[in-house]
Amino acid sequence: MRADLPTPLAARERPTARRATAVAHPNIALIKYWGKRDEHLVLPRVDSLSMTLDVFPTTTSVRLAPEAGQDVVTLDGRAADGEALRRVVDFLDLVRARAGTTHRAVVDSENTVPTGAGLASSASGFAALAVAAAAAYGLGLDATALSRLARRGSGSASRSVFGGFVVWHAGSGTPQEADLGSCAEPVPTGALDPALVVAVVDAGPKPVSSRTAMRHTVDTSPLYEPWASSSKADLAEMRTALLAGDIEAVGQIAERNALGMHATMLAARPAVRYLAPATLTVLDSVLELRRDGVPAYATMDAGPNVKVLCRRADAARVAEAVQAAVPAGTVHIAGPGPGARLSDEDGR
Ligand code: DP6
Repeated sequence: MRADLPTPLAARERPTARRATAVAHPNIALIKYWGKRDEHLVLPRVDSLSMTLDVFPTTTSVRLAPEAGQDVVTLDGRAADGEALRRVVDFLDLVRARAGTTHRAVVDSENTVPTGAGLASSASGFAALAVAAAAAYGLGLDATALSRLARRGSGSASRSVFGGFVVWHAGSGTPQEADLGSCAEPVPTGALDPALVVAVVDAGPKPVSSRTAMRHTVDTSPLYEPWASSSKADLAEMRTALLAGDIEAVGQIAERNALGMHATMLAARPAVRYLAPATLTVLDSVLELRRDGVPAYATMDAGPNVKVLCRRADAARVAEAVQAAVPAGTVHIAGPGPGARLSDEDGR
């Protein structure tokens, strides 16, 4: 290295931003993440694949508070407590350990997605927190490292670091090797102009968290292993379908993968059932759309709400059909959205 060139600073010596704000969008998995091989490192059992949305962003700011004795966390204008607070503090502890500091932080996070309704608010939440906290504490991480970090807050958050279609690699080998390999990356696609019609049939919090439900399913469901191995084949087929820009194949694979995941839960002992009567009503309307020649395919997460994949050109018609099926529900049309990004750093 030439002596007159500035030497890159080690992460620890970099001046910290002290305050940073980040925005992240939720993602919906077309090949689901369900089941962990390591709870502490949040290493999944299977690879998963998702689309990051252009609706329901989360905005999170992190300000270092060296004078404070504890972290102060506000979620949607209310002081966080219990499990929600513990998860944010654990995450900040991880960031602090890497930054080599014990400084506490003030965290303020605003969701525009109904929290806990199976609409992936933890994905946008922890992706935004990872980007903001890494900047505030001066970690200097690239997108891959941010994805790895976001994963520790909530597995699906690793995918929201990137925009568009994204694969999250499960990682393999020893826990240390898998920790490095378990991160997301964008997936190449052909000419697709997709939309996801989101039907919120119940915006209330879910009775069982996805974290608890997936652990219980892995532990007790005789259908878990068959689903996990079929999911590997689904992912390979999904990559081919995305490259070919074949929305019908993408939709068929996504729908069977999601129904299979729910089958694993229904077979758990005792069963975990997120699907509600209104969910099935929406599924019927999707079948009817297909009978009328509209390619529309459903996917559901840890909640009763349904996301319908279709062509953007068909989205208004699909939204209308779904709204007619569940008049009390709320229907949104989403497209592919951007990855998580810093929106402000120390006022810059
Ligand atoms: C059904 O990412 O919320 O939405 O890692 O325990 O925080 P933790 O789980 P989380 O699980 C999401 C499960 C899912 C499927 C998916 O998004 O792939």
